[in-house]
Amino acid sequence: MGGYLAPVELSEILEFDPADPAFVADPYPVLNRLRESAPVFYDARRKRWFVTRHEDVRSCLRERRLGRNFRHVMSPEEIGVPPLDPRWQAFWETERWSLLWLEPPDHTRLRRLVAAAFTPRSVEALREPARALARELLEPLAEAGEMELLYDYAQPYSIAVICRMLGVPLDRHRDLLDWSHRMVKMYEFDVPREAATAANRAAAEFQDYVVGLIRERRAKPRDDMVTALVQARVDGGQLSDDEIVSTVIVLLNAGHEASVNALGNGTLAFARHPEQWRRVVAGGVPAQLAGEEMIRYDPPLQLFERWVLADDFAIGDVPIPRGAKIAMLFGAANRDPRVFERPDEFDVGRENAAQHIGFGGGLHVCIGAPLARIELEASVDALRRLWPDLQLVEEPRRTGAFVIWGLEGLRLARS
Ligand code: HEM
Repeated sequence: MGGYLAPVELSEILEFDPADPAFVADPYPVLNRLRESAPVFYDARRKRWFVTRHEDVRSCLRERRLGRNFRHVMSPEEIGVPPLDPRWQAFWETERWSLLWLEPPDHTRLRRLVAAAFTPRSVEALREPARALARELLEPLAEAGEMELLYDYAQPYSIAVICRMLGVPLDRHRDLLDWSHRMVKMYEFDVPREAATAANRAAAEFQDYVVGLIRERRAKPRDDMVTALVQARVDGGQLSDDEIVSTVIVLLNAGHEASVNALGNGTLAFARHPEQWRRVVAGGVPAQLAGEEMIRYDPPLQLFERWVLADDFAIGDVPIPRGAKIAMLFGAANRDPRVFERPDEFDVGRENAAQHIGFGGGLHVCIGAPLARIELEASVDALRRLWPDLQLVEEPRRTGAFVIWGLEGLRLARS
């Protein structure tokens, strides 16, 4: 395979700065240029290899010589990575047993348990409640004639669906959202000290809350997922409280951050392409297919990383050394013209939209994807019935974060 530019060549040609306001306003021209100039390039400043094309991102996600973590096979000193900063101890504790931190065999053990709650049957059982809840929340907003989609609808909606699945009471839902928002800032490139301090404090509060929940379920079991985790037996043993805390937190956080932003980004795309919204409203395109195109066109998670765990790894003809970090650009891959025709067009009837990279792939593929799809479909369907005439009240602003890619808010009105 040819065309894989050497590091130096690329850094001379292109400026890739996710913090640049022009990039944040519309990242796709830059992402498209990157993808067409080089399938893989090294960014010396960020000390990462970036992967841009659909085929390569797809195979990296499935590659067993890459891992979300390296600590099970290498020490930080060995590859020149600083040890985890002890100031953010509470945050690292919640990460320690998160599915997103683990590799086999720990990952396999915990993922098997969580997967038991995501069987097609148990997820399907959430479809009707998810539809009813979407209508229930959107009806009064439609009567009012104006809403801020994320705060008034998407956040309370997604958190209610995931809490229902886990058996977490809803009375603290604004706290859950606040802890989660602060914690996920740690996944961005350059995390300012104040953001890390806030994330650490949020992790400590979230931990305390889940520990209390575990204690309650142990004393009084219920028919819910927290109880199932408390009672689970794996390989003859029980899960430790630390393992349960991490698992509940990753499910709560992953379970709404991306869903909320998928709906925000996708609804913005509709507001900017009213002819596509009219197709959905008229019933010419199923809400489910529209949901796939929403994720392809403007994915709520733009970048995921992997560590190279073996000596013989290469992408195309570019060898990438053991201990190196790889960043996969989902937004670039989702607009790859090798897979999608007219990739920059938002086309809700696109038949192969579901080939997007949005839910990842391989060992860490999104375990909540079936639930996320149900939520998105239910929301689009309720919006189409109750807000057929939606339009933007004002130009929305991006949060400024790139990895977790979303809007500050989205004010909509009925015309
Ligand atoms: C539109 C919404 C969503 C999107 C775009 C999304 C995307 C993703 C992606 C790309 C990954 C893989 C990360 C990687 O490979 O490094 C992932 C993992 C994960 N997702 Fe989602 N997700 C969504 C909704 C959800 C929901 C609703 C839940 C929970 C119910 C959830 C729970 C998880 C968990 C627990 C993982 C970690 C799996 C593992 O490491 O084994 N996600 N998600």
